[in-house]
Amino acid sequence: MKIYVADDYKGMSRKAANIVSAHVILKPNSVLGLATGSTPVGMYQQLIDWYNKGDLDFSQVRTVNLDEYVGLAPTHDQSYRYFMQTNLFDHVNIDPASTNVPNGMAADPEAECLRYNQVIRDMGGIDIQVLGMGHNGHIGFNEPGHAFELETHVVDLTESTIEANARFFASREEVPRRAITMGIKSIMQARQILVVVSGESKADIVKAAFTGPVVPEVPASILQMHPDVVLVGDKAALSKLL
Ligand code: F6R
Repeated sequence: MKIYVADDYKGMSRKAANIVSAHVILKPNSVLGLATGSTPVGMYQQLIDWYNKGDLDFSQVRTVNLDEYVGLAPTHDQSYRYFMQTNLFDHVNIDPASTNVPNGMAADPEAECLRYNQVIRDMGGIDIQVLGMGHNGHIGFNEPGHAFELETHVVDLTESTIEANARFFASREEVPRRAITMGIKSIMQARQILVVVSGESKADIVKAAFTGPVVPEVPASILQMHPDVVLVGDKAALSKLL
């Protein structure tokens, strides 16, 4: 595993964007595995900035996102499709047809998972998968205790996640109860994995994930078994690892 320590969130974002850029430059039709959440937002902004300066060309890039809520339309401001459009896709010259996010509105979510696995296979696999990490070590929507050997699948969200998400919706009833997520197996098949972490609140889980035992209770710990992981974090998030 390679570790890059940045002074702060901005530095982390810039270093992570450097690594993604290298893929786009060296292989213009790279398959980028992308994540939502607060951590990679600055990385996306940096990529947009370099695109605007003429340093990056996304015209041949293909993307595949980690996850999506079941029941949220792409136009819903809490959907992950909406997040990707507003945080990256709408601001660069990527072909919309080359961007993939699980379809949360699919009539048959199980069939959508199979379709999504095939999309990833048809693209020849993922060149670099960007991952944020939850405070409990989750990656994608793979929560503690989930099996390591799954590809894309439907998950029931825990009560605590539903509760935490409630603030983003008009009422608790509107909060999605299920999500579609790439499984650990899909994530581990990416040729390179870029983990981004920021802030002191992630320090304990970063330590557990990368120096503790590889156990389903800490989903991100499986990354210790991947041959090409790059961990980019700010000093605060990496403080207990170094
Ligand atoms: C995002 C995702 C999640 C987040 C994780 C960390 O697509 O699947 O696993 O990466 O919850 O979120 P932040 O970056 O907000 O701390």
